[in-house]
Amino acid sequence: MAILEVKNIHKSFGKEQVLKGIDLSLEKGEVLAIIGSSGSGKTTLLRCINFLERADKGEICVNSQVIFDAQREKKYTEAEIRRSRLNFGLVFQQFNLFPQYTVHRNLTLAAEMLEAKGLKGEDKKRVLSEIASRADKLLEQVGLSEKKGAYPVELSGGQQQRVAIARALMLSPQILCFDEPTSALDPELTGEVLRVIENLRGDDRTMIVVTHEMEFARKVATRVIFMADGVIEEEGDPEEVFTNPKSEKLRSFLSSSLEKF
Ligand SMILES: Nc1ncnc2c1ncn2[C@@H]1O[C@H](COP(=O)(O)OP(=O)(O)O)[C@@H](O)[C@H]1O
Ligand SMILES: [Mg+2]
Repeated sequence: MAILEVKNIHKSFGKEQVLKGIDLSLEKGEVLAIIGSSGSGKTTLLRCINFLERADKGEICVNSQVIFDAQREKKYTEAEIRRSRLNFGLVFQQFNLFPQYTVHRNLTLAAEMLEAKGLKGEDKKRVLSEIASRADKLLEQVGLSEKKGAYPVELSGGQQQRVAIARALMLSPQILCFDEPTSALDPELTGEVLRVIENLRGDDRTMIVVTHEMEFARKVATRVIFMADGVIEEEGDPEEVFTNPKSEKLRSFLSSSLEKF
């Protein structure tokens, strides 16, 4: 059964049609890499899936439940949107950590608001301690246990992004989405972030990774989608997409990406 289904998503900004009918479906445990030139609509697609934008047309389902239907007449309430967003963990290009909080607090904040709200006494203490140890485990998983008391400004970009990944995992999202997670980093820091993402794959996590790291996409993804001008121009198994591209647009995209190295 598909964990995520995106059906016929359209999105325009003013007169510009950015997404022109995107369909995709993801099974649990799949790692989908989305590649494509700048401006092809990758970020807009992720933002539509995550309710940061409203698609003009189309439908989004998680575990066969419709979480978004552009045709629905009733407006989505804030509470509905928040609930839908819980299906997704998000990691952006800019790490967006809270600068005023420690690394550990960056992880626990949202979970406390959600899970400890309204609790008192022993119940509250138990939940808070469970949240704190969950944060400890995730920091260990991304190799940053010793930085739990540090502030974001004291970390390298790569470390900040690893914290952002751990934070995105705190609420155990069904689907983890990355939007060019390494493109704001110096080249020598991308490896540590890509390795953390690669290691998450083993836990049967479903992930969507928008990336311009072609080697990474080839190695880690179970499927690759190439977007061009608001449509899925080509998709398939990574080996197939990278070694035997069918469309002219993908061929020229791949050769220009290779030139950059
Ligand atoms: N909020 C917005 N308002 C107007 N135009 C936008 C907005 N967001 C994206 N666009 C336009 O949509 C197109 C696709 O952008 P984007 O989804 O960011 O592409 P990508 O992530 O593939 O580089 C671009 O032409 C961009 O200028
Ligand atoms: Mg983008």
